[in-house]
Amino acid sequence: MASPGRTAPNALVEVNPGARGVASAHDYVGEDMFRLDGRIALVTGGSRGIGRACCEALAAQGATVVVNYVKGEAAARGVAETIAAAGGKADVSGFDVADSAAVDAGIGEIVKRHGKLDILIANAGISIDGLLLRLKDEDLEKLWATNVRGSIACARAASRSMMRGRWGRIVFMSSVVGEMGNVGQTAYAATKAAVLGAARSIAREYASRSVTANIVAPGYIDTDMTEGMTPEQKEQLVKIVPLGRTGAASDVAAACVYLASEEAGYVTGQVLRVNGGMHV
Ligand SMILES: NC(=O)c1ccc[n+]([C@@H]2O[C@H](COP(=O)([O-])OP(=O)(O)OC[C@H]3O[C@@H](n4cnc5c(N)ncnc54)[C@H](OP(=O)(O)O)[C@@H]3O)[C@@H](O)[C@H]2O)c1
Repeated sequence: MASPGRTAPNALVEVNPGARGVASAHDYVGEDMFRLDGRIALVTGGSRGIGRACCEALAAQGATVVVNYVKGEAAARGVAETIAAAGGKADVSGFDVADSAAVDAGIGEIVKRHGKLDILIANAGISIDGLLLRLKDEDLEKLWATNVRGSIACARAASRSMMRGRWGRIVFMSSVVGEMGNVGQTAYAATKAAVLGAARSIAREYASRSVTANIVAPGYIDTDMTEGMTPEQKEQLVKIVPLGRTGAASDVAAACVYLASEEAGYVTGQVLRVNGGMHV
C-alpha cells in the first residue's frame, strides 16, 4: 500500500511533468520505502554473485528483473525461477557485454518484450590479476572490453528507453580498488576507476531527464571472483576492514536497490562504498 501523499512510480511523469520527475511533498516514511513496482530492471552478470543478489533484491521490491548472463544460462534461468517461486517476475537475456552489437540487440529485445527499461545495474565484470611487469596487453584489452566498454555500451543502449520515459536509474559496479589501488591489480583497478568517470559524466548529461547515474564500490565480497583467496589472505584482509568481516553479495544488492529507488531521485553522480569501512 502506498503511503498517503506518495506518488506511485509510474504516475510520476504524469503528476509532475515539469519538475524533472521530482515530486514535491513525497512521504518517504513507511513500509513501502524503496518499492520498485512497475519498474523493469536489467542486471548484467545476474547469473551469479553480486548480480544474482541484485536480481533477487530488486525483484523482492516489485521490479520485473531481466537476468543477463554470458555463459551461465542454466544459472541465470535458476535465478529467474527462484524469483518466480518467491512470487516475483523475472526472465533471462543472454548477451556478451563486451560485444556492443550484441548489447544493442539484447537490450532492444528487452525493451520490445517489456515495453521499456527503467533500471540498469551494470554489474557484469571480470578480474585478471598480475603484477605490472607481467601484465599482458591482451589481458588489459579483455578487462577494458568487459568492465568499461561493456558497462558504457549497456548504459548507452538502456538510456534510450530511459530518456523516452523521462525516468531512469543507472548503477555502475566499481570496486574499492578503483579508488585505493592494490598490488597486482593495476589493470583491473584502472577499469574500476574508469567507470567512475563514465557514471559522473552520464549523471550530468541525463539529469534533465530524471535519469540518474551512480556508482557502487564494493570492498571484498564473497563470490566466485574472490574464492581464489587463501584463508591466510582472507584473515589478513579482514584485519584492515573495520567492520571485521568480508562482505556478502546481499550487502551490495541493498545499496543497488536504494540507488534504483524513487527515494534516491536526488542522488546522482555519487559513489556508494560498501566496504566495511576499509576505505573511507
Ligand atoms: N567480489 C568482489 O569482491 C567484488 C568487489 C568489488 C567489485 N566487484 C565487481 O562486482 C561485479 C560482480 O562481481 P562478482 O564478484 O559477483 O563476480 P562473479 O561471481 O565472477 O560473477 C560475474 C558475473 O558477470 C557475468 N559476466 C562476466 N563477463 C560477462 C560478459 N562479458 N557479458 C555478460 N556477463 C558477463 C558472469 O556471467 P556468467 O555466469 O554467464 O559467466 C557472472 O554473472 C564485477 O563487476 C566485479 O568487478 C566485485
